[in-house]
Amino acid sequence: MAIGIGLLGLGTVGAGVAQILQTPDGRHPLVKELELRQVAVRNLERARPVELAAELLTTDPSAVVTNPAVDLVVEVMGGLEPARSLILAAIEAGKAVVTANKAVIARHGAEIAAAAAAKGVYVLMEAAVGGGIPILEPLKQSLGGNRIERVSGIINGTTNYILTRMAEEGASYASVLADAQALGYAEADPAADVEGGDAADKIAILTGLAYGGLVPREAIPTEGIDQLDTRDIDYARELGFVVKLLAVAERHGSDSDGTEVLDVRVHPTLLAKDHPLAGVNGVNNAILVEGDPVGRVMFYGPGAGAGPTASAVVADILNIAAINQVASGPAAGQDPLLAASSWRKCRLVDAGSTCHRNYVRFQSTDRPGVIGHIGGCFGAENVSLQSIVQFETEGAGAEIVVITHAVEETGFRRALTAILKHPEVEAVTCCMRTL
Ligand code: HSE
Repeated sequence: MAIGIGLLGLGTVGAGVAQILQTPDGRHPLVKELELRQVAVRNLERARPVELAAELLTTDPSAVVTNPAVDLVVEVMGGLEPARSLILAAIEAGKAVVTANKAVIARHGAEIAAAAAAKGVYVLMEAAVGGGIPILEPLKQSLGGNRIERVSGIINGTTNYILTRMAEEGASYASVLADAQALGYAEADPAADVEGGDAADKIAILTGLAYGGLVPREAIPTEGIDQLDTRDIDYARELGFVVKLLAVAERHGSDSDGTEVLDVRVHPTLLAKDHPLAGVNGVNNAILVEGDPVGRVMFYGPGAGAGPTASAVVADILNIAAINQVASGPAAGQDPLLAASSWRKCRLVDAGSTCHRNYVRFQSTDRPGVIGHIGGCFGAENVSLQSIVQFETEGAGAEIVVITHAVEETGFRRALTAILKHPEVEAVTCCMRTL
């Protein structure tokens, strides 16, 4: 029995989905059952990469949601509103929803999941994280028997492209960004990507699935690559590391009431050259899941683009079609693995009590005693050092780079304050985490 699909948005991803639905040959036989019944667009006149009958198009997205011929709503319009309200309206109408909207799910996931559970419909979002990489389903289902210790990933292709070129060419952040914009790899307003917000949305979603509870999106410490200096990428390489924008979620223990305490964050990170994520270059994404007892499992592939993202959207549609949820109308309940509702409370750790390895670069004058002072201040705060190196500079002063062992954040910060009191130490010019 055919399943009526309503599409909200016909941009890059929407057109990719329509293209798959229009060319079912050679795909799973269920694809033939998916019938595009209505499509909401912003502008009826615009040229599109897919040909659609004019009567399928409307500029009113609510008409798609309430159309009785539409069984399943695919939201690929992006943005917070009206996307959130349309998703809720579709659920209210008893329809399943497939969305690629990480911003909405990261902020309103609890509200949407509660509405979906009350109506017994599914809201699936595989395309929201990692583009074409299947990662949400594996976290919900294939890895469900594990205790997840850590999820770490390169989940923003734009920043990975920029960092890869900075490392390969020694070019500045600003010049590579301008080039990426000209080539269409970076948006005209690149803030969501380069300031880390896009990766924070995605790690919020991964955290909810990996640990069974939601964390507040706005509280996730987030640092992008927009302040990064190419010289730190060069120094890191000389010391055996590559620099990647990493999104990480890891267990930090639990409270006496069972609340899971999580360290979730996004920041530029030094990775040893042989780390599994170190070789992920260009616009590719990868997510490394560390679980007990499975060990390390890595998911790698294209993190964006029409085809890869549409591949993930259609996989969700097929999942829903396969369990006949749509064909038979609102069901009494949801498959708990596919729906993946929250099953415990989670909270973010107090950042000061976390332990991390750090890379820190000091600018100072080149005088005797400076390295001794730096080492002494770290030692006084029980911060153990792995290496301390002075790099040649073109000008007068000295650049001193320190890599610490895993140390408590509060003591590390106190040591930095003490080091900066020395008259010869001018500034901390870069501070990054090291995995
Ligand atoms: N802007 C994202 C990226 C793609 O650069 O990875 C969509 O999630």
